[in-house]
Amino acid sequence: MAATSSWSPSSWRLHKALQLPNYPDAQALIEAEARLAALPPLIFPGEITQLKKRLAAVSRGEAFLLQGGDCAESFDELGQVPVESTFRVILQMAVVLTYAAACPVIKLGRIAGQFAKPRSSDTETLQGATLPSYRGDIINGADFTPAARTPDPQRLLTAYSHSAATLNLLRAMAQGGFADLHRVHGWTADFVRRSPQGERFEELADRIAQSLAFMEACGFDAAAAPQLQAVEFYTSHEALHLHYEEALTRIDEATGRAYGASAHMLWLGERTRGIEGAHVEYLRGIDNAVGVKLGPTAKAEDVLALLDRLDPDHEPGRIALIARRGSDKVAAALPALLRAVKSAGRTPVWCCDPMHGNTVTSSNGYKTRDFARILDEVRGFFAAHAQEGTYPGGLHFEMTGQDVTECRGGAQQLGDEALAARYHTACDPRLHGSQSLELAFLVADVLRAPAAARVRRAP
Ligand code: PEP
Ligand code: CO
Repeated sequence: MAATSSWSPSSWRLHKALQLPNYPDAQALIEAEARLAALPPLIFPGEITQLKKRLAAVSRGEAFLLQGGDCAESFDELGQVPVESTFRVILQMAVVLTYAAACPVIKLGRIAGQFAKPRSSDTETLQGATLPSYRGDIINGADFTPAARTPDPQRLLTAYSHSAATLNLLRAMAQGGFADLHRVHGWTADFVRRSPQGERFEELADRIAQSLAFMEACGFDAAAAPQLQAVEFYTSHEALHLHYEEALTRIDEATGRAYGASAHMLWLGERTRGIEGAHVEYLRGIDNAVGVKLGPTAKAEDVLALLDRLDPDHEPGRIALIARRGSDKVAAALPALLRAVKSAGRTPVWCCDPMHGNTVTSSNGYKTRDFARILDEVRGFFAAHAQEGTYPGGLHFEMTGQDVTECRGGAQQLGDEALAARYHTACDPRLHGSQSLELAFLVADVLRAPAAARVRRAP
């Protein structure tokens, strides 16, 4: 099918779709899609446009993007605690960057819809039995039983409800007082407070409180400054489950344009970014900001073709390129990619995902990541941008605010033997609260450096 042929929310169905489940009950899928199509949008067009405006500022070097959250959200985690803990750590990271590097931060969660997972194998074999792989709660269950692993269309509706409830909580926390800068001390979880990063954050929080008190003593009316009391918080997930995304596509009455109403930003995964594939076809037609994961095999010509297909109009803030090369490959490969994109006259937001190229198995069988390698990839990403004179616009990371033991290293020196204690992820290993803060302090130090500040000030 030609790339230029007309787009519709369902035109992806004429393309090869990788990573989608085979539903045994086709009629049940059709019914679930019809139910979803009749439900209200989760996100409105005006919010989508606003995020693109913010990302356009990032692409000009005037702000920094933090995109983080679970690898996979879980239906079992429906409550205030997981959402609130993730939200508060992203707030803390944003404050570190804003205060220490004087850089506005766009806050974007991998949250309120991050339920579908690509897998390298369609099946999993355990003790002689073979079952379909777990593909995320929107598709099937993680338990290794035939019933749990059978794709169930009802899960699409559960994903919608779960996302709606999460989004409601996020909107309340962002706007309803929790994010007020006067409450900065209250954002630190107890287990983080006791860590070296927690102590460093508390010092920074003291300075913020003093600055606010000083400004108020000078007559500045903090109560009248909405920027101090509320934050903008946006949502994102991988646009993997195209049946779900199609059913939640809505037409903006004001412009007649289609938008994905399931999240502010949707991203294209490393395994589904084939230029003629169904996922690229769906994403090219919606109005949202689109992320594109770029693994170690991504070549300059692939990236340029994707940019032409997804962003033919060179719209500011439309595309975030999310490099996830691996700490040992970033220095060799990223500069050439940056150069090719720049030479093509493109100014996407460039983000670093230091997680997905750095996954290893521990001696006791856990999927884990070394914090030192994560930091190395981030450093390599900044170095490549410094070398090419481009702007390192953001970080994309997997984290939780909860006290988990999933990634090795960090100030607490988590080793293999510690992983078993609280290894809770539904998919990939996440940074915990103090590792996330440590990452933010590192980025703040680099952003504060004269070269980065110069790029930020450039017109
Ligand atoms: C992810 O972000 O969880 C993921 C699967 O990433 P990638 O597509 O880069 O492998
Ligand atoms: Co992941």
